[in-house]
Amino acid sequence: MKRNTRDPSHEKQDPNIGNRHKLYDTLGRQITYLRVSVTDRCNLRCLYCMPPKGVRFKPRAEILTYEEIARIVRVSATLGVRKVRLTGGEPLVRSDVVELVSSLAGTPGIAEVSLTTNGILLDRYAGSLARAGLRRVNVSLDTLRPDRFQRVTRGGDLEQVWAGIRAAEEADLRPIKLNVVVVRGLNDDELCDLARLTLDHDWHIRYIELMPFREETDWDADMPSAGQRYVPLAEMLERMEPLGELLPVKNEVNGAGPARYHRIPGARGTLGFISPIGLHFCDSCNRLRLTADGHIRPCLLGDEELDVRAALRAGASDEELLALLQEATHIKPPSHLLAEHVVPHERPMSAIGG
Ligand code: 5AD
Ligand code: SF4
Repeated sequence: MKRNTRDPSHEKQDPNIGNRHKLYDTLGRQITYLRVSVTDRCNLRCLYCMPPKGVRFKPRAEILTYEEIARIVRVSATLGVRKVRLTGGEPLVRSDVVELVSSLAGTPGIAEVSLTTNGILLDRYAGSLARAGLRRVNVSLDTLRPDRFQRVTRGGDLEQVWAGIRAAEEADLRPIKLNVVVVRGLNDDELCDLARLTLDHDWHIRYIELMPFREETDWDADMPSAGQRYVPLAEMLERMEPLGELLPVKNEVNGAGPARYHRIPGARGTLGFISPIGLHFCDSCNRLRLTADGHIRPCLLGDEELDVRAALRAGASDEELLALLQEATHIKPPSHLLAEHVVPHERPMSAIGG
């Protein structure tokens, strides 16, 4: 397990900090960001995320405890991880997430803890999350129409999401980013309407190309068929032509994040485009993922993982955990292979957290 993942060429990049204590992969990408899925459960069933019969959730005993998560985060921070994002499933369905936020926000080296949520429970938790040290939230918002929202989420109430977004604003969890997964036949006729939200709100709306995941052949009739549902970035931009010319925005919003940002002239917020297939951003990928059941997943779109839970529960030392994180960084693929139709199938998106 103790593989030396150091590449001497990277020692030159940062002579002041011993790079053996940092996570550089074989391409020189540095890992500074950890996405932590705290649960594979969700209170919605989005058409593009879960098959109609639902997914089998992991038994409780397989899910990392908050102490275990905190330990991985602490060790990651000693290796240069600075940002942590909690994801799910839906992170707010796990009890006492506020306590986890507070513990992670207090971890030496961690500069920012954020959250990706479907917004349903955000109204209830935004204030206490902010007090616990949460910095900001990303909220999924695929449609502005309540009836459609119900269809896309198989039963969700859009009004609860709006209440959540308002609560997040009141709690100053900014900047608020809204994630729109674009699916033909579901919401591709709403891209301009969604964009116009930025005229009056300093929100960042991010249009995300639909990513293919496993088990999609038996998804229900409400989900447009595989050949149809994907809307490439170029087409999204075309559909936004009625908005007039969009101004490119320097990527101040998200540092090394995957979105490219634009602004409607005069708008308060911005429009971001995330194109994992058409225009992949693997070259600047700075992240690892920790699944709720304790596996480090080096690539969202690749099934290879390392079992950190087994190590933790076998009494691994910090040094051994550190070696596992280095190993995970070392096996991070140069890029995903979606263009070659290699699609992840071991876990549904709901168990990875985007
Ligand atoms: N393709 C793209 N984005 C997805 N998400 C969930 N499933 C997919 C998919 N197949 C998004 C959610 C959420 C984020 C965590 O990932 O909408 O915003
Ligand atoms: Fe739940 Fe998010 Fe998946 Fe929708 S996309 S079912 S909200 S995890």
